[in-house]
Parts: sequence; structure tokens; C-alpha cells
Amino acid sequence: MNYRHAFHAGNFADVFKHAILLALLDALTAKDKPLCYFDTHAGRGEYALDDEEARKTGEWRDGIERLFDNADLPAPLRRYVDAIRACNPGGRLRVYPGSPLLAAHALRENDRLLLCELQPEEAAALRANFRDDRRVHVHARDGYAALHALLPPAEKRGLVLLDPPFEAQEGEFAAIEAALAKAHARWPTGVYAVWYPIKSHRSIAPFHRYMANGPFEKVLVAELLVQPDDSPLRLNGCGMLIANPPWKLDATLTVLLRALADTLAQSSAAATRLRWLRGEKA
Ligand SMILES: C[S@@+](CC[C@H](N)C(=O)[O-])C[C@H]1O[C@@H](n2cnc3c(N)ncnc32)[C@H](O)[C@@H]1O
Repeated sequence: MNYRHAFHAGNFADVFKHAILLALLDALTAKDKPLCYFDTHAGRGEYALDDEEARKTGEWRDGIERLFDNADLPAPLRRYVDAIRACNPGGRLRVYPGSPLLAAHALRENDRLLLCELQPEEAAALRANFRDDRRVHVHARDGYAALHALLPPAEKRGLVLLDPPFEAQEGEFAAIEAALAKAHARWPTGVYAVWYPIKSHRSIAPFHRYMANGPFEKVLVAELLVQPDDSPLRLNGCGMLIANPPWKLDATLTVLLRALADTLAQSSAAATRLRWLRGEKA
């Protein structure tokens, strides 16, 4: 396990993922009832952008840096940038919050966060970041196994984010499919969001086929390409597959994706796609 998210924190893929994460959590917290947020691959929670890793790649310069001072953004992207700004008091971009920290900011007093991180150093940092937050439970263990063990949550409402490092490349999809099948058996009404990289569309097609015929009745997919998907050697884009999406999320994502393509494009081939694999308008 070599993956370190510090090299990639705040890049275009994080912007895409976290803007959608906040849209999901905002839709779910529109109802009063408490909910559970389950992050299977949580990372350390926060990343300093002047750390050696972040400086080495500078990936955040084509990600959050492009948006941080942009005052002219539509509401769902504005909401995300405001959340990043709230983590950077003083108005200078210095740290990038990971999914656990953004979720903790978006959630309420009576919501609960279950965070899994397998890498011991990252898990220790995650625990330290949330030492004073009684809503948060950190599990230093395999996120897929924890999902199987801990679902359904007592709240019976909530969101699972699956954001694995894809070190196994396309092999990761088999682990995701197995995890989702088991999760559906235990908690069919949970909302599940799966982030995935796009190098070429061909490599994603089997996963989409599986989900189009899989256990969930509603499956929405949002994708952003910042470059043409014609080179399997680089990250050309990414996607988020959402099973059981909240009502009207597709309308919010339509606005969000357009703004993400406008701000994050790295070539004239930048493009977005939003489609139902199953249910609604499939
Ligand atoms: C893409 S990063 C997560 C980023 C985080 N979700 C965010 O958005 O800020 C993936 C993380 O999963 C961890 N990891 C790798 N395999 C894991 C596993 N089987 N279970 C839990 N965590 C794992 C890695 O150490 C890494 O920190």
C-alpha cells in the first residue's frame, strides 16, 4: 500500500469529488432526522499545501487554486469554495480539507461519522484531527470489511463514500462491486457514492454495466473529463457513481458539472456527462 493522498490533495479530482459530496450532504441534511456518514477510505482528514508531497506535484494548482479566489461561481460550486475558505481563515489557501473534515463541517450535532483508514500513520493523523469531536469514530481497518461489519447504521439514514486509491487499477472495481452487493443486502436504502478515475472510458464500461443491472434501483453517474480520454497513462478525468441519489440531486449536478468543466478544463476536449444508469430517466 504505497498511495499517499498528500501528493494529490486539492487536485481537480478532489474538487469534483468534494463538491459533489457537499451537494449530497446538503440534500440529506434538508431533513431533520439524524444521519450517518460512512467514509470507507478516509485519508488523514487535512493536508498542508506547503508540505513536501503537495509541493512536489503541485496538482492543487490545477484544482482548488483555480477556484479559491473566483467570486463568480454558481451556488453549488460557491458552497464548496466557501467550505474550503472556512478551513483557511485569513483568506490565503494553505490547507486542503479531506472528505472527513468537509463532511464534519456540513453535518449537524446529532449526526455521526464513521471513518475508516487502513494506513496506520494516516489513521493516527485522522484520529488526532478529530480528537475533540464526539460525533466521529475512527476505525484503523479495511474500509470494505468495516462496511460489511457496521451496516446498517443505527440512524437508518445516511451516506457511504467509497473513495479507494485504485492501486489495483481496474481490479479495484471488483472489490467495489462486491462491497456494494453486500452493503445493499444489509442496507438497501443507504445512499452510496463511489469515486473512480477515468483514464479511458473502455475501462469503466464493465463497472457501469454491472451497476446498470445490479442491486440498486436508482443509479446516477456524473463524470468530468479535463483532457481527452485517449491516454491510459494519465488521469484524464473522474466520475462519481451514486446509488439511491437524493431527490433532485441530478438538477444540482447539472449546474455543478457545467461550472466544474468551465473552471477545471486542461484542454478544449474538457467535457462532462450526467446520466442515469438505472431508474429515473435511464
Ligand atoms: C483517495 S484517498 C482518500 C481521500 C479521502 N477520501 C478524501 O477525499 O479526502 C484513499 C485512502 O484510502 C486508504 N486506504 C487504502 N486501502 C484502504 C482500505 N482497504 N481500507 C481503508 N483505507 C484504505 C489510503 O491510505 C488513502 O489514505
